[in-house]
Amino acid sequence: KDTSGDASSDASQSGDLITIGFSQVGAESDWRVANTESMKSALSEENGFKLIFADAQQKQENQTKAVRDFISQEVDIIVIAPVTETGWETVLGEAKDAGIPVIIVDRMIDVSDDTLYSCWVGSDFKQEGVDAANWLVEYMDKQGTGDAEHNIVVLQGTIGSSAEIGRTQGFDETIAAHANYKILEEQTGEFTQAKGQEVMEAFLKKYDNIDVVIAQNDNMAFGAIDALKAAGKTPGKDVTIVSFDAVKAAFESMIAGDMNVSVECNPLHGPRVSELAKKLMAGESVEKIQYVDEGVYPAETAEKELPNRQY
Ligand code: AHR
Repeated sequence: KDTSGDASSDASQSGDLITIGFSQVGAESDWRVANTESMKSALSEENGFKLIFADAQQKQENQTKAVRDFISQEVDIIVIAPVTETGWETVLGEAKDAGIPVIIVDRMIDVSDDTLYSCWVGSDFKQEGVDAANWLVEYMDKQGTGDAEHNIVVLQGTIGSSAEIGRTQGFDETIAAHANYKILEEQTGEFTQAKGQEVMEAFLKKYDNIDVVIAQNDNMAFGAIDALKAAGKTPGKDVTIVSFDAVKAAFESMIAGDMNVSVECNPLHGPRVSELAKKLMAGESVEKIQYVDEGVYPAETAEKELPNRQY
């Protein structure tokens, strides 16, 4: 079995197994690591698969190359967690010409011809952004500062990824209905802790009135929390931290009093992709678009919820 990250193994040796070529975004966050684990454990030999795993290191051009490798190896199914939404027409056209079904997982793609992929399963990122804004407004109301001026900075994810596009749109459109909430600036932290910290440090040099940080994933929030502490601020109290993903470490951060809320993004797509792949191979019809269920976890739920978290 080859799950080494090398897309060059010989798919023809796989016997009765369903050979899947999976192009993963990278390993930028706790969420992504949990997603990779879920995919590898569900798409195992014991479950009837031979998985060829390719890590794109957050670069879409690496994904294009991986998909072409999968096509030349004549895999049964191609699975892509796309880095960005656009730029897929040509290579997916090549997969279609080769007769290989494509499953898109996690983030979406933006193509004019939806026959270029068989199905998609993932998160409603725009709804996550809406949920974050609504939680923030309700929280400030409960704190008695609902009518005060609030100054927000946003650490965005990878620009052009549907996680960034949806969360930005959902949050910005919802918060725009509240004139006392001002977005000072939005900058990408590339979904990583290190970049999240770096961008937050720059924000703190530029603005002295930040009282809300929206981090589009937990790892960037952890970096922002470190930057705020180093600047003598108290995250969770004088700066409200709103995050996304709801990984285990976010619950620990909430219990420690540093983070105020994490909007869930579910990474456990392995079993869903396994079911879709088996149905496609059997010639059965599948749902074209499937959204997963997700919740909102404020700090007061963290202690009770942490033992139940799977990632
Ligand atoms: O596409 C899902 C997003 O990608 C997660 O929020 C983030 O942690 C990951 O990098």
